Amino acid sequence: MEMVKNRQEKVKNREVDGFGKDYLGLLLKAYHDEGHSMKISADQLVDECKTLYVAGQETTNTLLSWMMGMIINETLRLYSPVFAGFMRVVDKPDRFSEGVAKATNNNPSAFMPFGMGPHTCAGFNFATNEAKITIAMILQRFTFSLSPGYVHSPFPVLAVRPEKGVQVIINAL
Ligand code: HEM
Repeated sequence: MEMVKNRQEKVKNREVDGFGKDYLGLLLKAYHDEGHSMKISADQLVDECKTLYVAGQETTNTLLSWMMGMIINETLRLYSPVFAGFMRVVDKPDRFSEGVAKATNNNPSAFMPFGMGPHTCAGFNFATNEAKITIAMILQRFTFSLSPGYVHSPFPVLAVRPEKGVQVIINAL
């Protein structure tokens, strides 16, 4: 609310000539758009901010936790000298190597982690880039392996969280 008040004050005092070009700025513009069909209420403005915060925080956090565990498991599955051949036939972890369209036989509804239609995730590009950059930064500095204490236990609370966490042993390179 502090940020909202600040921006409104600045426009009111004519210090700036708009609410800003970011998402909050667009919401404030819609809120102050008197007599326009795009006008939103104060409740809608607050709801949109809450949605963006929750949708952007919980989801990417959880994705990163799973990724740390999955990278280790996928690597072991692909490159384990003993089991590699067998595991490839069962789970096909390389099915996405030529993109989602090929893997799903051009049927986009078979894989839609970011939803579909008018409410498709607004943070799709942001979240995938954020995850790739985070993993790249970790891999530049550390090696990591899955702790022997890790228990695989997906648990749905809004996002599908690892119920008992993802315990990872990290060593500096
Ligand atoms: C791994 C990360 C993420 C996943 C898997 C994900 C997934 C989704 C899904 C499935 C929906 C559609 C929900 C529905 O059909 O009603 C959605 C909507 C949304 N997401 Fe994400 N999301 C992620 C990250 C983010 C981030 C980082 C942001 C913002 C910074 C974000 C903002 C939103 C917003 C605003 C909506 C609502 C769109 C609308 O109703 O028009 N998401 N997300």
